[in-house]
Amino acid sequence: QKVAVLMGGFSAEREVSLSTGRECAAALRDEGFEVVEVDAGPDLAARLVDINPDVVFNALHGRWGEDGCVQGMLEWLKIPYTHSGVLGSALAMDKDRSKEVFRVAGLPVVDSIIAKTSDVAADHVMTPPYVVKPNNEGSSVGIYIVHESANGPPKMSSAMPETVMVETYAPGRELTTTVMDDRALTVTDILTDGWYDYDAKYVEGGSRHVLPADIPGEIFDACMEYAVRAHDALGCRGLSRTDYRWDESRGLDGLILLETNNQPGMTPTSLAPEQAAHLGISFGALCRWMVEDASC
Ligand code: DAL
Ligand code: MG
Repeated sequence: QKVAVLMGGFSAEREVSLSTGRECAAALRDEGFEVVEVDAGPDLAARLVDINPDVVFNALHGRWGEDGCVQGMLEWLKIPYTHSGVLGSALAMDKDRSKEVFRVAGLPVVDSIIAKTSDVAADHVMTPPYVVKPNNEGSSVGIYIVHESANGPPKMSSAMPETVMVETYAPGRELTTTVMDDRALTVTDILTDGWYDYDAKYVEGGSRHVLPADIPGEIFDACMEYAVRAHDALGCRGLSRTDYRWDESRGLDGLILLETNNQPGMTPTSLAPEQAAHLGISFGALCRWMVEDASC
């Protein structure tokens, strides 16, 4: 079977995607697949027609690759692909819309608004502490945390989009659960010195992962259950990973669902493959399953 691994692309998570792509391509070769690595550029459709793969392994992260755009093109070309379809991808990548879906599904999320970036930079649009983030990026790119002690509004980079999401800051421990084949794998407790930013995510030793998380059974079970419900509510397929904050002083009420990542990172420091490995599923076996599970 010939597999085209799509990676790179144009998003702010390009480097993360290149890392995910290289890891998955190497693993798939070891599994015996014929692999073509494709750095996704404007000529992607023509290249795929040329390569004529049996399956596309979508290792793209962020805009255009994770939000339904590439998925729509693959539907058009009738090439089976890994991860979620058009609608599930579009919903999951839009933090505001996915929260609406989570609310309807009865899942715990914090209050948020979509605001003009110029308004956010001019004055507090919410009582601190709050978080400002692009509505459709991943890997903590472009996130501002405005603490209670902040004097004024955040100084926003000119690279921020015209509108942003502003949400109530959810304090507490960073927990995450991967869903594979409609079942939750385990819960990881992510320990960092500061907060879990880009470097803590991708620099070797930037964070410590405890799995299975040493947390009360009630919280563990809720993370497992909410991850499957979030995956289903968004209409995700294949692999996804749902991130939480848990304020332990508030028990189950302190568990907040931050977001569901429909194309979780598969880099050497990433969480989803680590959870699979914990259950005895090797990186190669995980990639193989994803290819076998691909559809369009
Ligand atoms: N957005 C990154 C790749 C993740 O969720 O793992
Ligand atoms: Mg994310």
